[in-house]
Amino acid sequence: MACLFLERICIHLPSHKSKLSPRIAVANQVFGYLFLRWSCAAMTQPRTAYELSESQVTTPKPVISLFWRLTKQYRDHFTSVLDMGAGDCRFSTGGPFDRYVGVEIDRKRVATAKPPAKGKIIHSCVFRHAAADYDACIGNPPYARHHDIQTAWKERTVARLEREMDVSLNKRCNLYIYFFCLGLLKSSQEGLVALVIPYEWVSRPSAAALREYIQRHCWNVAVYRFQMPIFEGVMTTASVSIVDKARAEGRWNYYDITPGYDVVKREGIADSRQGVLDYEKRGKIWGLRGLSPGSQKIFTLTEGERVRNGLSKRDVVPCVPTLRSVPRVQRTLSRSTFEKHFVKAGQRCWLIRSYGEKRSDSLNAYLESVPAKARQTYTCKNQTPWFKYFPHPVPQILFSSGFTEFGPKILINSIGARAVGSVWGVHAVNKLPLRRLQTYLLKVNFEKQVVAHAKTLKKVEVKQLNAVLNAFVGRERKNGRKSSR
Ligand SMILES: C[S@@+](CC[C@H](N)C(=O)[O-])C[C@H]1O[C@@H](n2cnc3c(N)ncnc32)[C@H](O)[C@@H]1O
Repeated sequence: MACLFLERICIHLPSHKSKLSPRIAVANQVFGYLFLRWSCAAMTQPRTAYELSESQVTTPKPVISLFWRLTKQYRDHFTSVLDMGAGDCRFSTGGPFDRYVGVEIDRKRVATAKPPAKGKIIHSCVFRHAAADYDACIGNPPYARHHDIQTAWKERTVARLEREMDVSLNKRCNLYIYFFCLGLLKSSQEGLVALVIPYEWVSRPSAAALREYIQRHCWNVAVYRFQMPIFEGVMTTASVSIVDKARAEGRWNYYDITPGYDVVKREGIADSRQGVLDYEKRGKIWGLRGLSPGSQKIFTLTEGERVRNGLSKRDVVPCVPTLRSVPRVQRTLSRSTFEKHFVKAGQRCWLIRSYGEKRSDSLNAYLESVPAKARQTYTCKNQTPWFKYFPHPVPQILFSSGFTEFGPKILINSIGARAVGSVWGVHAVNKLPLRRLQTYLLKVNFEKQVVAHAKTLKKVEVKQLNAVLNAFVGRERKNGRKSSR
């Protein structure tokens, strides 16, 4: 039974690798993959919405050639290879092995797969695959965000991996991390694990247990980061990540793969000599992620939508889900800036006050007009009623967590706008020295100290913002300033 659960849930729809309009692709690039909802009914009858054949992502052939070129630097030859999520067995092309085993959960792909003469494909969930001790565990494993992985499956898989690895995994990690762990378990004592996975695993807190596990064994690691997108229409920063279990120097090396497929050594995870920004807890000043009310389409309206739905300004509060329309030189979100770059520009800028007990008739009518299908989001389903989100306090500073160069846009919030989505708030109990803090933040070269999620898009994590804010508090203290008290 447990395995049946595994089979269903492990089929995934990787949207970050699908063809999307550039804008949607950018929005999706970090978080990447289509939603998989699973139910008991779906266990016996796969849902048509899966559209598996269209959404399966294949690894481009030049990447496979490069993959084997890279693994050759660690081993000339493999006796046995396990391909986890084999698809059409394309990883079997060009590999120096005696025996190849591909495990693939999608029946359709298995039917058309071309296993090599020295190998086979097994239609199964790789977590059910009993054999172990492979010379190499390889592949391009599936990617799905933690809230798209069915809880029961996750609990069971995490329990198993934790038991076998003696680690405490973060349940917010991505599905590919489970495959990575499985590869470490299924490979022989001196085996190699080589995967095409997002580069972010080298720094994300949710993958910390995996990194610590590798460090605990002192295995050597090499991470080859692609400078260019390798999946069509997708900008997620990908890597070939290799763990060499035969080496115990505990060395981590980083490389770039240029668009011409040359390998260039890098100093470290990030471009800065100081490395990646630390992750720290909240201090006296802290960052808070933008509100996720349930769906920006429903909860944040443009001026036109507000008027068309007969909502008065009492039904809404100003909000900013993105700072994209605001010029980089802008320092304050004043009334006139808000009017020009949000209200008149047709941006989403009004957050409906659906959390309140007292709602106007117009607001109730608007909420009733929202189709049930549109509110099938994780957040809406976990709110009672579906529209009663928990409001955030008004931030003193607005911080756009995603950026393309140097650092995020940072605005002093003089109109009491709410931070939504990727726009975060900077908060403190006391009134902040706003200009000083803003100047400080604007001088931080975030670009050099974060791991790029995509070639152009960089993203700060909220705990990294906290580290910067804590450093500011430390500096204020040193200068004997009030804001540190
Ligand atoms: C990103 S695709 C890669 C396919 C192929 N290896 C390639 O590189 O083109 C990941 C594959 O993993 C398969 N998969 C997902 N969950 C699985 C599981 N639990 N066991 C086996 N295969 C799985 C998917 O069906 C999909 O074919």
